[in-house]
Amino acid sequence: MEIHVKKNGPIVIPGPVTYTDAEGHEHTVAEGKVVALCRCGHSANKPFCDGSHRKNDFQADEVVLKTA
Ligand code: FES
Repeated sequence: MEIHVKKNGPIVIPGPVTYTDAEGHEHTVAEGKVVALCRCGHSANKPFCDGSHRKNDFQADEVVLKTA
């Protein structure tokens, strides 16, 4: 799996992946879909990206992480 830390944007994790939210509910992201996690701190829907990084001129490098 490759996790894309987008230039000036979110952390994008491709499905299929399953995660558990703060209330203990399990969610599955299907293959071909992604989950985008905010890293700028401005999202109104944390921990997910809502596009607010664009309005706030968030600046950060791009990184690709590869998992085994
Ligand atoms: S990275 Fe997109 S709203 Fe924070």
